[in-house]
Amino acid sequence: MKNKITLTKLREMKKAGDKIACLTAYDASFAALLDEAGIDVLLIGDSLGMVLQGEDNTLKVTVADMLYHTRLVSRAGRRPLIVSDMPFMSYATPAQALGNAARLMSDGGAEVIKIEGGENLLEVVQHLNRHDIPVCGHLGLQPQSVHKYGGYRVQGRQRQAAEQILQDAQRLQDAGIIMLVLECIPADLAANISSALDIPTIGIGAGLDCDGQVLVLYDMLGISARIPSMARNFLEGKASVQDAVRSYVEAVKAASFPAPEHSFK
Ligand code: KIV
Repeated sequence: MKNKITLTKLREMKKAGDKIACLTAYDASFAALLDEAGIDVLLIGDSLGMVLQGEDNTLKVTVADMLYHTRLVSRAGRRPLIVSDMPFMSYATPAQALGNAARLMSDGGAEVIKIEGGENLLEVVQHLNRHDIPVCGHLGLQPQSVHKYGGYRVQGRQRQAAEQILQDAQRLQDAGIIMLVLECIPADLAANISSALDIPTIGIGAGLDCDGQVLVLYDMLGISARIPSMARNFLEGKASVQDAVRSYVEAVKAASFPAPEHSFK
């Protein structure tokens, strides 16, 4: 397809300083709408456990759930890059990760898979890489580790924790990830990571200096029961969902979102 977003294109966008607009999507109707509005990357996030299934966290999401929703999105999202989350405990060993990632790609239509974690994941990333499976990392707040953190908290505020996240980012890049989501970390830490890496960073609650931004679709449409402080309701004052999504794309591209109130120190 003409204008299809590929990993090469995302790297070029990073080099050129063109911001990458990403949103989560879980079904074909929204995938088509977001594609039409100019979204570059569609993420089938395991956040679907919370926003679709009504759970308190993402831990009950299964590979079968991810497969189902990835299929729906990849059927209708043509231009954007399709990234699918691997759910909790589906990538605990390199062999398990390979089997599940292969299903998400060959049965689901994912073009990239995303996994949460730092240096504990290096072997998994290398193994997937050897089998030509593009991997997106996810550092900072990792929702699948919510019980380890004791809640959803900003990460990397202490010096040692910040250094660990930066080091994890560099080691993941060396292991072969092609993109990195940074969630809920101080904006200056995300800026340092983004300039240290060659691969694109996509921030959520990570400040303006990431190479792109992502939000949970239901948060940016004001549907979620509790809208996190890092999100903005783009539907407010707009006549349609289409207008809201276009306004999100424009705000990301113009670097007017996130504002300081959607970021952390
Ligand atoms: O599951 C998800 O939606 C995510 C985003 C919040 C980055 O991982």
